[in-house]
Amino acid sequence: MSIFLDTANLAEIERFHRMGIIRGVTTNPTILLRDGVRGGLAGIEVRSKQIAGLIAPLPLSVEVTTADRSQAMRQAQTFAGWGDNIVVKVTCHGPSGELENVEMIHELETKHGIHVNATAMMSAQQCFLAAMAGATYVSIFGGRVNNMGYNVCGEITRLRRILDQFGLKSQIIVGSTREVLNVIEWLEAGAHVVTVTPHLLNDMMVHPYSKETVQQFLRDAARAEAELGMPAKLVAAPDGTDGKQVAAAVGKVPTI
Ligand code: E4P
Repeated sequence: MSIFLDTANLAEIERFHRMGIIRGVTTNPTILLRDGVRGGLAGIEVRSKQIAGLIAPLPLSVEVTTADRSQAMRQAQTFAGWGDNIVVKVTCHGPSGELENVEMIHELETKHGIHVNATAMMSAQQCFLAAMAGATYVSIFGGRVNNMGYNVCGEITRLRRILDQFGLKSQIIVGSTREVLNVIEWLEAGAHVVTVTPHLLNDMMVHPYSKETVQQFLRDAARAEAELGMPAKLVAAPDGTDGKQVAAAVGKVPTI
């Protein structure tokens, strides 16, 4: 069970990767555009190689940018050549429901040895078929499903059960997170991976009451150290003071 970061922002990827709390990165054309990637395929190549290098051997998903089958096949093979950890994202079907994509997923996985993330899915049945075709990852867009008025948790649980039942190797990615609570509830429902934006990942950890608690500990530590006669310069600065003021206030350490 793990978290992939849903961004192409290098600084954010580096920051959270340093903390050891992400297990991969996912992008799509919308994310690349939002995070400043320009210049068509050349721009995608530069940013994708930067991200792939930064997180290797963790996986990076890069999505093909065309609905044309032969162009998409060529792109997929080109993208896969950018790094051993590149996973090629292919939508489950074309813009008008064309099923050539399913054939492409199968061919990439079985004939070319390219890992595919089958994406843009909204139901367990779509993911099941993509898993049958051999996709390494099957991505269901939890937030978009919930926005339609259904709870995606039921789809995730049924999908996980059926993948396990048939021994299918695909890992379930649930993307499109909208709220902090989505992450744990979707993992609990059976997702192998949840994709999270940097903003939500930050909010998963930072809690107002934790902040208050940490401030209390630092304040009391400073007071306790001051009472023991610790040199003022060693007293922690919990609340914008330099510690000397706390020490001076309890009368144990003279101000300099
Ligand atoms: C995941 O891989 C998707 O790219 C992403 O989570 C989609 O999220 P959205 O519904 O916010 O666009």
